Amino acid sequence: MFQDKQIVLGVSGGIAAYKAVDLASHLRQLGADVHCIMTDHAARLVSPVTFGEITGHEVAQAMFDHITRWDVGHISLARMADLFVIAPATADIIGKIASGIADDMLSTTVMATKAPVLVVPSMNTQMYENPFVQENMEKLRRAGYTVMEPDAGHLACNTEGKGRFPKTEDILEEAEKILTGRRLLKGKKILVSAGGTREKIDPVRYIGNRSSGRMGYAIARAAYMEDAEVVLVSCTRDLPEPRGVTVVYAEDARGLDAEMNRLYDGADGVIMAAAVSDYRPSVSSDRKIKKEDHSSLDIRLELNPDILRGLGARKSHQFLVGFAAETNDVIAHGKEKLERKNLDMLIANDVSQPGAGFNVSTNIASILYRGGKMEQFPIMSKDELGRIIAERVAEGIKKGSC
Ligand code: PMT
Repeated sequence: MFQDKQIVLGVSGGIAAYKAVDLASHLRQLGADVHCIMTDHAARLVSPVTFGEITGHEVAQAMFDHITRWDVGHISLARMADLFVIAPATADIIGKIASGIADDMLSTTVMATKAPVLVVPSMNTQMYENPFVQENMEKLRRAGYTVMEPDAGHLACNTEGKGRFPKTEDILEEAEKILTGRRLLKGKKILVSAGGTREKIDPVRYIGNRSSGRMGYAIARAAYMEDAEVVLVSCTRDLPEPRGVTVVYAEDARGLDAEMNRLYDGADGVIMAAAVSDYRPSVSSDRKIKKEDHSSLDIRLELNPDILRGLGARKSHQFLVGFAAETNDVIAHGKEKLERKNLDMLIANDVSQPGAGFNVSTNIASILYRGGKMEQFPIMSKDELGRIIAERVAEGIKKGSC
């Protein structure tokens, strides 16, 4: 993604300027050609020599350094950029851009660029929450700039709060999202479920399954990368929450059913990747069942709701996607589920195959569509399959809205 891309990295004078060195280094390692512009304050915090060594290019700082050259510095950098990243972005540079002030190399160049701009604010919490700073960031967003949310945590001023420079990998992900530029799901609301339900026997025991949640999380991430507003209903707490995705948690099938139905009407696309237990114990105990009290234990099971079937029955505008976890006659069972649950698309995975299904990082899938079309895919990472699914969902939503 970053190979041969021209990235202009603007560094303004926040204490997190030193963290931008790591960002520059990662961008270069990923193949980008990075040109750095520093404000005078940034150059007092980190030496321009450091950025020069890391990027392999002289750092631009003063407006009139290279007046002998005809390619006026700020204009050539502004023109060459595929992406302009300002990291860290202080309240000062944000305010300048929002007010149309161009009085140094960085503010002048960003004003002159037509490249997409990614702003990475980092500052003390009170400054970040200041209404003028908030208003300025909103102005930038309205003008089409991408303004990241800072992290929360320990700050250089020895306080806790929002304002920390985000992790390098999060900035890279946001930059990738901009450079990919497809935005196939822009303005769309996508609802995804992930993980395996846990059906309570007593406070310490449950009936579960082997789903890790990785497939659903990969789809949620891919939908976010296509610019969707994503809600993920997760039946696991073992995975890190994907950035930019709203995560709500459900424990058992009935909890998942309630959340999916609550969020269903507002969704444009719904992908049910969760592994739902078909049965639950008819009775569960609020106290731990003691083995001393029972030489054997009969657990009677009763059917859980078929969540997806319920969603299919009351489908209005949603593009509805299910999975089928099968061990034999995968396509035939998949087709039957597509019909019975009134789905628009179904991903059938043969969970008996090595490298497919539960708790691995790869999957082997066939995508079945309403009307009989089918695509078969070789083994691939769940991230890659997630991207394909997000793409197909975007196509499906688009067709439906034509
Ligand atoms: O989480 P991972 O470790 O990454 O594994 C991924 C996965 C194997 C769990 C995933 O790829 C997958 O196949 N998910 C669906 C598992 C499943 O429940 O399959 P099923 O064939 O039993 O159900 C068919 C569809 O109906 C599924 O979309 C399921 O979410 C839904 N369902 C099933 C039962 C039920 N009571 N309610 C439902 O909504």
